[in-house]
Amino acid sequence: MTNVILLGPPGAGKGTQAKRLVTERGMVQLSTGDMLREARSSGSDMGLRVAAVMDAGGLVTDEIVIGLIREKLSHGGSAGYIFDGFPRTLAQADALGDLLGQMGQRLDAVIAMEVDDGVLVRRITGRYTCADCGAVYHDETHPTTRPGVCDSCGSTNLVRRADDNEDSLRHRLMEYYKKTSPLIGYYYAKGDLTRVDALARVEDVAAEISMALNKG
Ligand code: AP5
Repeated sequence: MTNVILLGPPGAGKGTQAKRLVTERGMVQLSTGDMLREARSSGSDMGLRVAAVMDAGGLVTDEIVIGLIREKLSHGGSAGYIFDGFPRTLAQADALGDLLGQMGQRLDAVIAMEVDDGVLVRRITGRYTCADCGAVYHDETHPTTRPGVCDSCGSTNLVRRADDNEDSLRHRLMEYYKKTSPLIGYYYAKGDLTRVDALARVEDVAAEISMALNKG
C-alpha cells in the first residue's frame, strides 16, 4: 500500500498525474476539489454553502474538507491513496497524519510539483474536463482527438470549471502561497518531500513521480 500527496498550485498538474496513478497502479484518487464540486452539483446544504467561496478562489473550511476525507478513508480497502489538493493548510496536514495513524498507515511520499506561475494562467484558462469520467484536456497542449468527444469514455459532456478564470486564479494562487506552500517546509522537515519539475512533459513528470514512489 502506497499513500502519496500531490502538492502544488492550481494548474500544476495534480489531477492529471493522479489519474495516471489510478490507471497505472490501481490507487484511489481523493480530490477534495472533486468532492466539493460533486456536493455542489448534488445541491446539498454543504455544497450550496461552499459554492461562492470556490468560485471566488478561496479555501473551504478545514472542518468541511477534513470531514470529507475522514468519510472516504473510513471505507478503507485500497491499493493506496493519492491525496490531490488535500491537505492545503497545516491543520489539514495534522489531521491527515492523525487519520492515517489511526488506520495503522503512513504517508509514503509528498510530491511538490514545481511550476512557474507564468504558465498557470494558460494551463487553467485552456483546461476542460470530461464530466462523466474526469479525463483532463487542454485547448492547445492536449485537446481531444475528435472535437467535443472524450478520448477515454466517448462522452460529449465536456465542461469548463466556474473558477477557471484569471480573477479566481489570482485569488487561488494567493491562498496557495499564504496557506498551502508552508506545507512544503512541513513535509521537508519530516523527510517525506520530493520535488518534481512540473513544467516538464506530462510523461516526464509521471516518470519522476513513479521513481519517488518506487523509492518510498
Ligand atoms: P481543486 O479542484 O483542488 O483545484 P486546484 O488545486 O486549484 O487545482 P486544479 O484542479 O486547478 O489544478 P491541477 O493541479 O489538478 O491541474 P490539472 O492536472 O487539471 O480545488 C478547487 C477549489 O476547491 C479550491 O479553490 C477551494 O475553493 C476548494 N478546495 C479544494 N480542496 C480544498 C482543501 N483541501 N481545503 C480547502 N478548500 C479546498 O492541469 C491543469 C491543465 O494543465 C490541464 O488542462 C492539463 O491538461 C494541463 N497540464 C497538466 N500537466 C501538464 C504538463 N506537464 N504540461 C503541460 N500541460 C499540462
